[in-house]
Amino acid sequence: MGIARVGVVGCGQMGAGIVEISAKAGYEVVAREVNEELLDRGLGRIQKSLSKAVSRGKLEEAEKEAILSRITGTTELAGLSDCDLVIEAVPEDKELKMALFAELDGLVKPEAIFCTNTSSLVVTELAMSTKRVDRFACLHFFNPVPVMKLVEVVRTILTSDETFDAIFDFAKKVGKTPIAAKDNSGFIVNRLLIPYLLDAIRCYEQGLGSREDIDTGMKLGCGHPMGPLELCDFIGLDTMYFVAEVMFDEYREPRFAPPGLLKRMVKAGQLGRKTGKGFYDYS
Ligand code: 3HC
Repeated sequence: MGIARVGVVGCGQMGAGIVEISAKAGYEVVAREVNEELLDRGLGRIQKSLSKAVSRGKLEEAEKEAILSRITGTTELAGLSDCDLVIEAVPEDKELKMALFAELDGLVKPEAIFCTNTSSLVVTELAMSTKRVDRFACLHFFNPVPVMKLVEVVRTILTSDETFDAIFDFAKKVGKTPIAAKDNSGFIVNRLLIPYLLDAIRCYEQGLGSREDIDTGMKLGCGHPMGPLELCDFIGLDTMYFVAEVMFDEYREPRFAPPGLLKRMVKAGQLGRKTGKGFYDYS
């Protein structure tokens, strides 16, 4: 199960990061977006990130050019047909992901491995939209992908040992520390992180402290790089809300239930950094 050519479906914040680290590790990468505008934006994100690394003295200009030369953009799913590994990083929408995998299954060579980057959906259910259930798993990266060292490698009860070993090795080759997690909603990290973040929103909702004091408390009291409300804005409140809904549905425990304030902020279009307003104002 040699991996030389990697396809990434979705070139948003997560997808662009996955494309960047894969190309940096020497893989040929095909990035797919739904239209030229989104593709240009995604590839632009990678250019900018690499240029920043050059300006900070972390990368040579020639290395940057070599990395970029390994990346090809496409708006066609068929452009991924000869990839050895296809990683999906589209929005957290089960129907969208299942339809996408079903289509990819007919287009990409049968021996290729499919991975989802879902943060909360049941991987087994996504696998069932394809006929390659033994070659289907999850590589869960963290935001910002070029910086965060962890990847959760999630196998389903149908994933073969060969597939698991191949993607575990891939995660190491792209410079990450992989950990093995079971196919439970939220895996290991979100299972622990999401209830904490939701609780921080409840603290704020109940007036336990100002948003600044809640964040400063956790940053200085526990050494976290970001306070919980700041981190919610960074992840995106829509993503937070969606993940909480999925996890609540899975576990039926109140600690996973999205707080009322989170729901209202999402309905009001206050999604965090990406919209310029969430718990903080970024305008
Ligand atoms: N791409 C590439 N590099 C980046 C980057 C990005 N998007 N953002 C920051 N960096 C780099 C900077 O270049 C800098 O590198 P240097 O020290 O070598 O010069 C380094 O990271 C630190 O960046 P900054 O000095 O600009 O800012 P900070 O020190 O505040 O760090 C941060 C920014 C890395 C985002 C840090 O605040 C952090 O670790 N925050 C927590 C992030 C986190 O918890 N992520 C997980 C979210 S949960 C998730 O993704 C799961 C999902 O399923 C919900």
